[in-house]
Amino acid sequence: MSSSVKPEPAKGSIKTLIGLLPFLQPYKRQFLLAGLALIVAAAATLAIPYAFKQMIDLGFGAAGSKSASHINLYFLALFGVACILGVATALRFYMVSWLGERVTADLRSAVYAHVVTQSPQFFETTKTGEVLSRLTTDTTLIQTLVGTSISMALRNGLLFIGGMVMLFITSVKLSSIIIVMLAAVVLPIVFYGRRVRKLSRESQDRVADASALAGEILNAMPTVQAFTHEEIEAKRFGTSVERAFHTAMQRIRARSVLTMMAILLVFGAIVFVLWLGAHAVVQGTMSGGQLGQFILYASLVAGSIGALSEVLGDTQRAAGATERLLDLLAAQSPVQSVLLPETLPPRTANGAALQLDDVVFHYPSRPDSNALMHLSLDIKPGETIAVVGPSGAGKTTLFQLLLRFYDPQHGKITLDGVDIRFLTLPALRNAIGIVPQDTVIFSENALENIRFGRADASDEEVIAAARMAAAHEFIERLPQGYQSFLGERGVRLSGGQRQRIAIARALLKNPPLLLLDEATSALDAESERLVQVALEAAMVGRTTLVIAHRLATVQRADRIVVVEHGRIVETGTHTELIARNGLYASLAALQFNTD
Ligand SMILES: Nc1ncnc2c1ncn2[C@@H]1O[C@H](COP(=O)(O)OP(=O)(O)OP(=O)(O)O)[C@@H](O)[C@H]1O
Ligand SMILES: [Mg+2]
Repeated sequence: MSSSVKPEPAKGSIKTLIGLLPFLQPYKRQFLLAGLALIVAAAATLAIPYAFKQMIDLGFGAAGSKSASHINLYFLALFGVACILGVATALRFYMVSWLGERVTADLRSAVYAHVVTQSPQFFETTKTGEVLSRLTTDTTLIQTLVGTSISMALRNGLLFIGGMVMLFITSVKLSSIIIVMLAAVVLPIVFYGRRVRKLSRESQDRVADASALAGEILNAMPTVQAFTHEEIEAKRFGTSVERAFHTAMQRIRARSVLTMMAILLVFGAIVFVLWLGAHAVVQGTMSGGQLGQFILYASLVAGSIGALSEVLGDTQRAAGATERLLDLLAAQSPVQSVLLPETLPPRTANGAALQLDDVVFHYPSRPDSNALMHLSLDIKPGETIAVVGPSGAGKTTLFQLLLRFYDPQHGKITLDGVDIRFLTLPALRNAIGIVPQDTVIFSENALENIRFGRADASDEEVIAAARMAAAHEFIERLPQGYQSFLGERGVRLSGGQRQRIAIARALLKNPPLLLLDEATSALDAESERLVQVALEAAMVGRTTLVIAHRLATVQRADRIVVVEHGRIVETGTHTELIARNGLYASLAALQFNTD
């Protein structure tokens, strides 16, 4: 239900475009080819008015014996120039569009590949919607720049300069007049054109407003109907649509005026210069062909000015987009693998040993309040530790540190004797399996959802893991068994089923260290029993840390660690801690589901 309308991207400084160079560098050859085609095409375009003049003056005008052969020659030459123009233009279009698509694809992949390596800290401050819009909208702006604007700018720049030179060669007097005329004609059109473009963007925004409104309401139909809001919502949408219509009409009116103005001004200017030229022809100071040539060059120059002003706007928007993309690419994850990593010792049959030594940690966004304080814990291979404590005590935070989503500010964590900061991130995370509080189900079938635990697992291994996690039976009963699509976010599964999929995933990975964040939501008795069976299977042959909300889990643990305000306040077995009558005893009385 993201309903916010994307604001018009900021206009950036054109200098930031230099940052794009690394993405253009690999395609130097293609740029060269495109540039060559562009120059040939521009030269051919500039030659056409001249060829026209030759055709008129020498082909039509000169009477005499040579006239017939001249006609053939000049018409052939004109057609030849057109052929060159056609081929060169097509080649330029092909090369430049290819470059635009290629560079955009590279940029998208590079940004995505970079973003997925960022630590959670990055995603706390950056909205996913923003990243998505950078990947799509911003890269599209750059595609326009590379695929169209650069070549437009070059082409029209060449045409402008070449056209100007040719104008002055043709007639200095008329050229001076036409420069004044061009300014008078082009400036109002460019100015008014800008207003039309702004209005058309506004009109798009209003349509986006209306559809965002509809999207939100359509997603909440049961609530809307339960409160009999249908009429009110229909009216609200109606108002929004009317607003869009109103803005569209403004744009259409402006556009009509622009069209009229452009035609009147351009034709007026051409007729005026033709009129001057006609007099010059009558007086014999200019030939008919020269006049024709002059008019053609003048329209080339006028067109190139219009195009250049449009390119400038596009370029500024692309510069803004580049700035945002480069920012994204420059983001450095605070959690990095070391250059010379150590490796874990070979795995033992019991699982991994884990040690926390005086760990102090605060979240980067809350430097004044420590989430964990002087935490020390020694866990032997194969132990099952239950972590309990009130909400907000720091239990999930502990798991985040073990996975190195964050690094502690003080103290160290060792896995099998190796400081986890000296392991590569993949080496560390491959050694840990996690069953999170809220299971993420991907819009895939059951088989692929479990295979997420280990991408290279065979179908048989996936099914074996599902059996261990007590998920096999319910998956078999789904309409297409393991091939059943589980729906976006797993909407087609119950809470207990989703958890067993998550456990199967962790079992498939078969890690020496297992982290379980028990779901707080209550399950019905049967699901509860099945999840317990699955967990029991999951803990065999490995070290397990489980954030426990259920008495059954706590009683099965070798040791219970009680956390409060980021500190360990008690450790012991269930009976020991009950006997002590401290925090654990009161938590147990209040919190645990004892049925
Ligand atoms: N990303 C974060 N940025 C800043 N503070 C955070 C962040 N995540 C958690 N905290 C804070 O850190 C403290 C510990 O949170 P944590 O999630 O570890 O609690 P918990 O013990 O898992 O609680 P629960 O049982 O409710 O899941 C809380 O005060 C919480 O507000
Ligand atoms: Mg938690």
